[in-house]
Amino acid sequence: VTAEKNGFDHFMLKEVYEQPKAYRETMLGRISEDHKKIVLPDLKLTEEQIKNIKNIQIIACGTAYHAGLVGRTMIEQLARIPVETDVASEYRYRSPIVNSDTLVIVVSQSGETADTLAALREAQANGAHVLAITNVVGSSIARDANDVLATLAGPEIAVASTKAYSSQLIAFALFSLYLAQVRGTQTEETIANIIAAMQALPEQVEQMLDQADTIKEYAEQISTHKNLFFIGRGVDYAVAQEGSLKLKEISYIHSEAYAAGELKHGTLALIEEGIPVIALATQEDVLEKTVSNIKEVKARGADVMVITHEENVATLLKSVDQAYAIPKTLPILTPTLAVVPLQLLAYYASLALGLDVDKPRNLAKSVTVE
Ligand code: AGP
Repeated sequence: VTAEKNGFDHFMLKEVYEQPKAYRETMLGRISEDHKKIVLPDLKLTEEQIKNIKNIQIIACGTAYHAGLVGRTMIEQLARIPVETDVASEYRYRSPIVNSDTLVIVVSQSGETADTLAALREAQANGAHVLAITNVVGSSIARDANDVLATLAGPEIAVASTKAYSSQLIAFALFSLYLAQVRGTQTEETIANIIAAMQALPEQVEQMLDQADTIKEYAEQISTHKNLFFIGRGVDYAVAQEGSLKLKEISYIHSEAYAAGELKHGTLALIEEGIPVIALATQEDVLEKTVSNIKEVKARGADVMVITHEENVATLLKSVDQAYAIPKTLPILTPTLAVVPLQLLAYYASLALGLDVDKPRNLAKSVTVE
């Protein structure tokens, strides 16, 4: 078993460290040699069909659903197609409005999740073309879908999904750019710039992994707490939800993720002296807004740690207790970096509490029953 873990203490940590490789593999062969275009030669979905898509639905469970939340923003911003994201167990029972004008994207690491598979079938029965983003090409979901965009993250063993999630983000970025390319919603220059930024991501993740100790210290600090909050806006909110799930899943510490602007509509009542709040503030266009939400929790005694870009650290340190800087990338790609410290946070909190990191209580790696 030690050999399979390649010297790492747990599969989860090994898988977190495999992310640069997973990003590279997922991009491999899908970017043209001149780095200007996305090439998806295996796609059955024709250019004609792509031009006719009226709406997109992204359906998944758990962490894959959280990847879908980021995917929604990527597609809407780049391809300007309206996107809904839903959890599969809700979608399948709410008589969804779906037809041949809809492209349905199901996201699943294992490709065996029962609810996601049922949602796929429901969508197909209504005439939709279904694209599966999955890590297992021989899976039931891959087999039944009309198209497969594989994430090449390699086998994921730990129950807590890490490299599969972040590779799903890469797959969404590739597919969003492809849609934009075919529908002509972005200039060639914009597409080339995003591709260049994507190609820089693996090294940027490596940089962050080299500084894992900072997160380890913070994780030890929060591991003594019973409750904490994650806040953010836009894609930061999506990443906050993933960070919160990861922490709950393996450290059993209760946490909630909130859209920063929603706090004052109820949750602010829970903020009391010393409660840790992790604020994601990577989106420049709403930075000021997030800072004002940070001040709201700070004024009520919260202990705030912010995740942002280096250039904002000095200013933000006036309003927060601690800051962690992620490398600079385009706003739409920040989730592929911002999630890394949150994965490490969950890992080291679980470790500090002496829990079974790779096999948390009550959970299975793949949920093949309802
Ligand atoms: C992730 O950490 C969880 N273990 C869980 O939410 C998982 O993402 C979910 O069950 C979906 O699994 P899938 O991607 O294999 O469909």
